[in-house]
Amino acid sequence: MLKGKSVLEPMDLTVEEMEDLFETADDIIADPEKYAHIADGKIMGTLFYEPSTRTRLSFTSAMLRLGGSVMGFSDAASSSVSKGESIADTIRTVGCFADVIVMRHPKEGAPRVAAEHSYVPVINAGDGGHQHPSQTLTDLMTIREYKGRLNNLTIGLCGDLMFGRTVHSLIKALSRCENITLKLISPEELVVPPYIRKSIIEKNGMQYEEVRHMEDVLPELDVLYMTRVQKERFFNEDDYVRLKDSFILDGNKMKLAKDDMIIMHPLPRVNEIATEVDEDPRAHYFDQVRLGMYVRMALVMKILGLEA
Ligand code: NCD
Repeated sequence: MLKGKSVLEPMDLTVEEMEDLFETADDIIADPEKYAHIADGKIMGTLFYEPSTRTRLSFTSAMLRLGGSVMGFSDAASSSVSKGESIADTIRTVGCFADVIVMRHPKEGAPRVAAEHSYVPVINAGDGGHQHPSQTLTDLMTIREYKGRLNNLTIGLCGDLMFGRTVHSLIKALSRCENITLKLISPEELVVPPYIRKSIIEKNGMQYEEVRHMEDVLPELDVLYMTRVQKERFFNEDDYVRLKDSFILDGNKMKLAKDDMIIMHPLPRVNEIATEVDEDPRAHYFDQVRLGMYVRMALVMKILGLEA
């Protein structure tokens, strides 16, 4: 039962709960009217201490489409955080006003601290370079939709595997799926952190290979998951500038890929996918955005204990 639970990382959801969310999202897509007033009178608080376009607006749209309301801040500077208030005090305060809280924070673990002090469930909308579980639901929903399965897949994760929290969360969730082969495509400086490699990939016996050139593995992939180099997590600008254009997917490289490979990206994109690729029927990053809203509707509903 998801009712009343905080979701801080993908493993806070069982495989069965995830499947139930995907099926609920499918049902919402088929019959949105049935869900349009299910959250009437409920309030979501969105506390975003870091920039966001998709995640915040996706949760907002999800709540509005369920009939609920949303309040919060999208810039910590406009809240009492700028006066020095602690996360614990902010969360206790917002918990008096809202039935569920969605929180993004630059510090790893901040949403966990928040959940420990919160009167209401907290959804982690991204904490530093750590985890981003609702993006993972979005990603799995997209793979399920366009590949028809969540097992027996060769998945290329490309770009900033060191700081990319969407990659870390997705690897965690995929570690529970059968027969997944990971191709970890990154510059040497941006490989997956050792804690992900050792305690998730290797511990679960996942097949993987670290790759430096996208072209070497493109023909084998069922899914290519592109990511941006996470500028805000670099300690020095020179390293960012040197690494930012390490991998650029363009029309030419796409000639190497299977006809039914799907391209995903959590967005925002910077340079890593040339805009010409957007016209390729294999490009699904904007479908990902659309599906993300429906799976967030399902998530919010279940956390609030609402059934259609
Ligand atoms: C991602 C994030 O914030 O981690 N964006 C998102 O939520 N869709 C990816 C990124 O910022 O690169």
